[in-house]
Amino acid sequence: MRKVVATPFHDTPVGVLEGRVTGLTGLSVSLNGMRDFTGVGDRVSIFGLDGRETDAEIVAFRGDTAIAMPFGGLEGIGSGCRATFRLFDQEQRKRRAGGTLIVNNAWQGRVLDPMGRPIDGKGPLPPGGDPRRLHASPPEAALRARLGPRIDLGVRVLNLFTTCREGQRLGLFAGSGIGKSTLMGMLARNTDCDVAVIALVGERGREVREFVEDDLGPQGLAKSVVIVATSDSSPLMRREAAYAAMAVAEHFRDQGKSVLMLMDSVTRFCQALREIGLSSGEPPATRGYPPSVFAELPRLLERAGPGLVNPDGKAGQITAMFSVLVEGDDHNEPVADAVRGILDGHVVLERKIAESGRYPAVNVLRSLSRTVPGCNSPEENALVQEARADLSIWEDIQDMVRLGAYRAGNDPTADQAIRVIPSIEAVMKQSRGEAATIAESFDALRGALSSSGQA
Ligand SMILES: Nc1ncnc2c1ncn2[C@@H]1O[C@H](COP(=O)(O)OP(=O)(O)OP(=O)(O)O)[C@@H](O)[C@H]1O
Ligand SMILES: [Mg+2]
Repeated sequence: MRKVVATPFHDTPVGVLEGRVTGLTGLSVSLNGMRDFTGVGDRVSIFGLDGRETDAEIVAFRGDTAIAMPFGGLEGIGSGCRATFRLFDQEQRKRRAGGTLIVNNAWQGRVLDPMGRPIDGKGPLPPGGDPRRLHASPPEAALRARLGPRIDLGVRVLNLFTTCREGQRLGLFAGSGIGKSTLMGMLARNTDCDVAVIALVGERGREVREFVEDDLGPQGLAKSVVIVATSDSSPLMRREAAYAAMAVAEHFRDQGKSVLMLMDSVTRFCQALREIGLSSGEPPATRGYPPSVFAELPRLLERAGPGLVNPDGKAGQITAMFSVLVEGDDHNEPVADAVRGILDGHVVLERKIAESGRYPAVNVLRSLSRTVPGCNSPEENALVQEARADLSIWEDIQDMVRLGAYRAGNDPTADQAIRVIPSIEAVMKQSRGEAATIAESFDALRGALSSSGQA
């Protein structure tokens, strides 16, 4: 079992380092007096002219000057303002590196900001809990458990065509307005898991409430922890939302639970990293993203997945779905590319399919789960293969069929595809309130494929 350490709030600093603000540019603050005792990732406090204390993180050094970015706004901070850094002994310093979050099981059912403060108006949270490092490392690769059994996602098209195992990590590639939030809400409500952790990074403020009330609903919220940093929050806060959500997921995973993690979106997380990198003086590289983004991204995504094996031989799992924004169907933009390389599969949502009225608008032929076919029975694999073949043929001939240029009788496989496609489409379609287990999903597909002739 994990050793529970004293809460960092009980750590006592051995001294306080004091410095001054020497300059402000864009989003960053230059500080003197911080050399020798502080490093990148350390948190300092800056006191504005009105006495208000703002937390900031050191992101770079230029000579003796520390460059820090505040978690809040820069208003009221000017040249000469006081900055402090609390000094801890080495043990405590190691434990506190990169910041900690005290996570409590009672967070289920709540909406919080990246600092773990409730923002849902449902009153305070119970004190205490498990101190988790925000920038924790993934479990040692060799000691990590294997992927768990098949996980029931409750959504037919995903259960059938991107079947997942517990601990698997998938990318969800989608443009705006084609049903991402709705699908995430369905997953949070329907997936057979103990806890869902949902990170909303850089969403518009209005959308958060809509997501929680409409997409998630009371049933989904009851088993979820929602961590939110809206688009108007500082880049550090947006980055922290992803780390905080991961720390919460790890907290539940280490209790041996099956956790579903949904992050919307990794693109916005990378954009936050880009703002931080550029402000600290890093050069832009691929499409404006500095190199550090692509070093940091795998470190976050790798943390999802299986945990260490507990003494009882079982392991908790974080099954994760990371959404990636793809605008104008540009699936080769750098974030999409990097994510696709790291994860164990991807689900592609397409505007054309959404426009045709089939939701969830998954393009099955472009989606893939790397654990299939190993996790299905031979009969199930045969069904999926047959449906994929029909969908692929249909993709090639649909324009001809719609124009009336297709002549039946020449190609039996094409005739068969034309017959079963309406039934397969009906199986893939699912309204927001509907749930379907894996067994029900395969039954539906079995029925669709044997319904030849009636369509
Ligand atoms: N399963 C579904 N059944 C019926 N309609 C759906 C379904 N999923 C999505 N829609 C329709 O698509 C619209 C957009 O969905 P949603 O808000 O989930 O998209 P989004 O990708 O999250 O958008 P944004 O990029 O603006 O956040 C919904 O208002 C709804 O009309
Ligand atoms: Mg949305």
